[in-house]
Amino acid sequence: MLTEYIGNIARKKGVGPLLAIEAAKTKLAHKIGQASGLFYVPKVLNLDEERGVLDFERLRGLSTLYQLAIDKDARSLELYEKAGQALAVVHERLVLPDEMKYELPSEWMNSSDENVFIHGDFACVNVCLHEPSGQLVILDWSAAPLIGRTPTFGSPYFDVLWFASCVFRGAPSKKVFSWNAEEMTDAFLRGYAKAASDKKLNRFSDYLPKICRLQRKMIWCLARRKYPLRAPVYIFSQMFMFIRFHRFLRKYRRQGSRIFAKDSGQ
Ligand SMILES: Nc1ncnc2c1ncn2[C@@H]1O[C@H](COP(=O)(O)OP(=O)(O)O)[C@@H](O)[C@H]1O
Ligand SMILES: [Mg+2]
Repeated sequence: MLTEYIGNIARKKGVGPLLAIEAAKTKLAHKIGQASGLFYVPKVLNLDEERGVLDFERLRGLSTLYQLAIDKDARSLELYEKAGQALAVVHERLVLPDEMKYELPSEWMNSSDENVFIHGDFACVNVCLHEPSGQLVILDWSAAPLIGRTPTFGSPYFDVLWFASCVFRGAPSKKVFSWNAEEMTDAFLRGYAKAASDKKLNRFSDYLPKICRLQRKMIWCLARRKYPLRAPVYIFSQMFMFIRFHRFLRKYRRQGSRIFAKDSGQ
């Protein structure tokens, strides 16, 4: 989907029913953000389901967390931690109407009491700093294309690990050796653990092979879109980052529940 700007409006065009779900999620998330004081979500101004148009309040002066990491901005780690806290609050409070409950693929479904409504594409390109106000802003409440754009409900580990995988995959090819993915992901998970109950993170290890499979799939999808000459460098740097991602996850598999338990003060 493309976002275009018309004055103070940010407009998305797409499939009507999908935009309707995105609009409903965005409106609820806006309220959660305001009530928690942790993050901001742009207001929905108008939905025209028939024409497939969704208008949001346009925020000027946004920098994605991804761009801040590339720029080695001093505020980065603090913001990654805040993003983790914000996600935990979303998982705790977001409730969509039953007719908008679409499940993730079965491997990403928990025993029913542990499933939550998800963001669906929680990635460092969809979480921003609003420079004028200093607030964290969460955009793009439509599920990622790789999981089919419709799911709204499933394991909270999907959003948590999707974010982690995007941090590692986002390493610019020329900066893989200085890309501090581990530190950023640590900060993000620490934030999540601070705001979430330990119970919700005690099955971390079950999902590691699943996120690795998704990560590989995503890397190949993106590699195919590269110019032929750039593809080898991209694949090489992504293989290097994938090994680091795998190693990082193994560390959490060994220590995860303990780290989360300690950090959440339980
Ligand atoms: N409300 C908004 N105000 C300002 N810019 C926005 C807004 N919504 C989206 N954008 C810009 O458009 C980009 C794409 O929007 P996003 O909702 O992430 O759609 P997509 O599904 O295309 O990823 C964002 O990264 C951001 O730069
Ligand atoms: Mg996006």
